Amino acid sequence: MDTPNRRDFIVTAGAAAAAAAMGPVTMATPRRKNPLEMLNIGIVGTGGRGTGACNDTLTANKDVRLVAMSDLNMQKCQSARDNLAKAHGDRVAVEDSKMHGGLDGYLEVINDPNVDLVLLTTSPGFRPQHVEEAVKAKKHVFAEKPVCIDPAGYRACRNAHAMAEEQGTAIVTGTQYRRQDNYVDAIRMIHEGVIGEPVTATGRYCGTGIWYRPRQEGQTDAEYQLNNWMHFIWLSGDQIAEQAVHNIDVMNWAMNSTPERAFGSGGRFTRPDDSEMWDSMSVDYDYPGGKLVSFMCRQLPDATVDVDNVIYCTEGTCYIKAINGGSRIVDKNGREIYSAPGNIGAAYRQEHKDLVESIKAGSPIVELNQTADSSLTAAMGRMASYTGKEVTWEFVTEKSKLDTFPKDLTLESSLPSNGYAVPGTTKPT
Ligand SMILES: NC(=O)c1ccc[n+]([C@@H]2O[C@H](COP(=O)([O-])OP(=O)(O)OC[C@H]3O[C@@H](n4cnc5c(N)ncnc54)[C@H](O)[C@@H]3O)[C@@H](O)[C@H]2O)c1
Repeated sequence: MDTPNRRDFIVTAGAAAAAAAMGPVTMATPRRKNPLEMLNIGIVGTGGRGTGACNDTLTANKDVRLVAMSDLNMQKCQSARDNLAKAHGDRVAVEDSKMHGGLDGYLEVINDPNVDLVLLTTSPGFRPQHVEEAVKAKKHVFAEKPVCIDPAGYRACRNAHAMAEEQGTAIVTGTQYRRQDNYVDAIRMIHEGVIGEPVTATGRYCGTGIWYRPRQEGQTDAEYQLNNWMHFIWLSGDQIAEQAVHNIDVMNWAMNSTPERAFGSGGRFTRPDDSEMWDSMSVDYDYPGGKLVSFMCRQLPDATVDVDNVIYCTEGTCYIKAINGGSRIVDKNGREIYSAPGNIGAAYRQEHKDLVESIKAGSPIVELNQTADSSLTAAMGRMASYTGKEVTWEFVTEKSKLDTFPKDLTLESSLPSNGYAVPGTTKPT
């Protein structure tokens, strides 16, 4: 790990304060749940996906209930609780005193002795810190993707994964395609050699424009950036990490490896002036054995949407379309070997079913490293594009000191933006 910084300090000081406030509490030992016993869930980050994840787990598992919530903005906890209660009745059992606001509210949820499992669904920049704290508190975890956006966060995730394995707590991540039948079958068939060996692939995450939340009068820099989080790299990691990581994960999965190096390019033409994001990025990833993945992502209004993966193998081709587009495998004569529709809704629920069942069975799933690898693969592509220089896996995992999280973060912080990256000027760190 890098030398301790403010991120560590905030976490340690916050945890100590929370522990002191609670008095002499014995940290919960992960319990092997009786299959008939209710599992108590806490959530950190009750925005769109956080509320969706609560709904998914409450739908997929009859024996879980929601008992604690935290969000920067307490009103979001209240509205999420009220909406979820309409659908799930008394399994949404969050008392007013169990809703926590502000930057340190997550510690109240994570250190709540009544909570067995925490869902971590804030903007991505906080994920490594939140996962590490939750694992230290011996909670089971669901962590949305991406799980990190820089090498410092990657190391925190590796550490959390090792701790969870050691103590027997679960970590499932929000890479739902790993649980979507048409993806699972298609990639299994590639791994079984049904169409020979993978040689090359194209992955695309080309979408249209996205939201922008303009600065409100009186907002501090921190408040503004936290609300308009997609546009600040320390919070989102840019599109390639925040969104396109889904298909980068599919590429690592299909190639059964992380890449050895990345070479990238891109730019920006439509983003608002103070956005740090690029509009578009194209990255060539070299995988072991001379395999090449050509990856592209962009968010451009009124441009063609293409969010699909094509994997070219020695004896045929595999097409995997995102969301509900389905999979298709053909041999080299174009004869169809396999085709299946997609159902992303089922996959969103399956990840929560697998997580809860693994906890109850006493064999917790720990899959953080896999998603940390994919998240760092995305960050590596961004680093290569931003700098205009080739970036290696060895550099990002072993040498890079890049830690985008601001020091001394409070809601009052002054956070001058770094602006957007300019290749040749932006240095690899
Ligand atoms: N798996 C998927 O298909 C999928 C889909 C959408 C979003 N996501 C991921 O889910 C995450 C959240 O995205 P979203 O669309 O819900 O965003 P959102 O803006 O709707 O919600 C994020 C919430 O987190 C809160 N928050 C931010 N920092 C916090 C902190 N330190 N402590 C407590 N609360 C905090 C915000 O106030 C906000 O309510 C992102 O990582 C995103 O990439 C995944």
